[in-house]
Amino acid sequence: MPRIAYVNGRYVPQRSAMVHIEDRGYQFADGIYEVCVVVNGDYWDMEGHLARMQRSLGELQMAAPMDMSALKVVMAEVVRRNRLKNALVYMQVTRGVAPRNHQFPAAGTEPSLVITARRFDFNASDAKASKGIAVISQPDIRWGRVDIKTVGLLPNALAKEAAAKAGAAEALLVRDGVVTECSASNAWIVDKTGAIVTHPKTNQILGGITRQTAIACAEELQIKVIERPFTLEEAKAAPEAFLTSATSFVMPIVSIDGARIGAGKPGPVALRLREAYKARAARG
Ligand code: PDD
Repeated sequence: MPRIAYVNGRYVPQRSAMVHIEDRGYQFADGIYEVCVVVNGDYWDMEGHLARMQRSLGELQMAAPMDMSALKVVMAEVVRRNRLKNALVYMQVTRGVAPRNHQFPAAGTEPSLVITARRFDFNASDAKASKGIAVISQPDIRWGRVDIKTVGLLPNALAKEAAAKAGAAEALLVRDGVVTECSASNAWIVDKTGAIVTHPKTNQILGGITRQTAIACAEELQIKVIERPFTLEEAKAAPEAFLTSATSFVMPIVSIDGARIGAGKPGPVALRLREAYKARAARG
């Protein structure tokens, strides 16, 4: 069965889906995106992802392609047409098509909206989490507004590629000695008291929706949450480390730059949080 994509008002076979060569997403990375998952037919954290999408659009003075209730209908339809029970859904909005000019195009230029869905392997994620992942550190060379979820992801792609070349699954991004986040996820450590620590929500990180839900889960579990910067050295010496994202949920980290974290296997705090996240996300 061919994959079906939604492109600017039409459901089309993905292999023939196209956007214009003068789309501002293509020429200027002038676009934003969201990634969320559907598990057993239910969107996880959908409201959070849509709220962040609206924020990203607002920060970039970009028009919404449709209102959020209409968008939910299209999102459901993309999943339905691809006959997926477990899906990874990608949504991208750009400022639309206009002759190349740095300045914004004329008011009224239609934003472009693309939505795709592919199979999400829930069991593979659990298998990965049971072993934990290796990460490496990379310099955080991104721009000053990474709190906006733009498609300008070249530094993130370079960091992820470096990780893959080193046999690692993710890259911790480091600025002035501080771990900001990862190439496509938020970074966390567990401190000596058992509290969980993550970078505060500033312009230097993307405010993850999973991060937000993980904080709520930790509070339910009576795990203390501390939002403060931590250094790479502190992360390497931490009893546990983990990352969060819509597609990884809560993923234990077992080594950083080849140095073992804790016992070199997934830590108890990360695993408890993962279970709590999955249970909460499934409740909706
Ligand atoms: N990435 N930080 C960055 C740089 C990210 O790209 C992501 C998500 C996150 C976590 O956000 P959330 O919990 O809302 O998924 C943090 C997605 C999964 C991606 O780009 O594929």
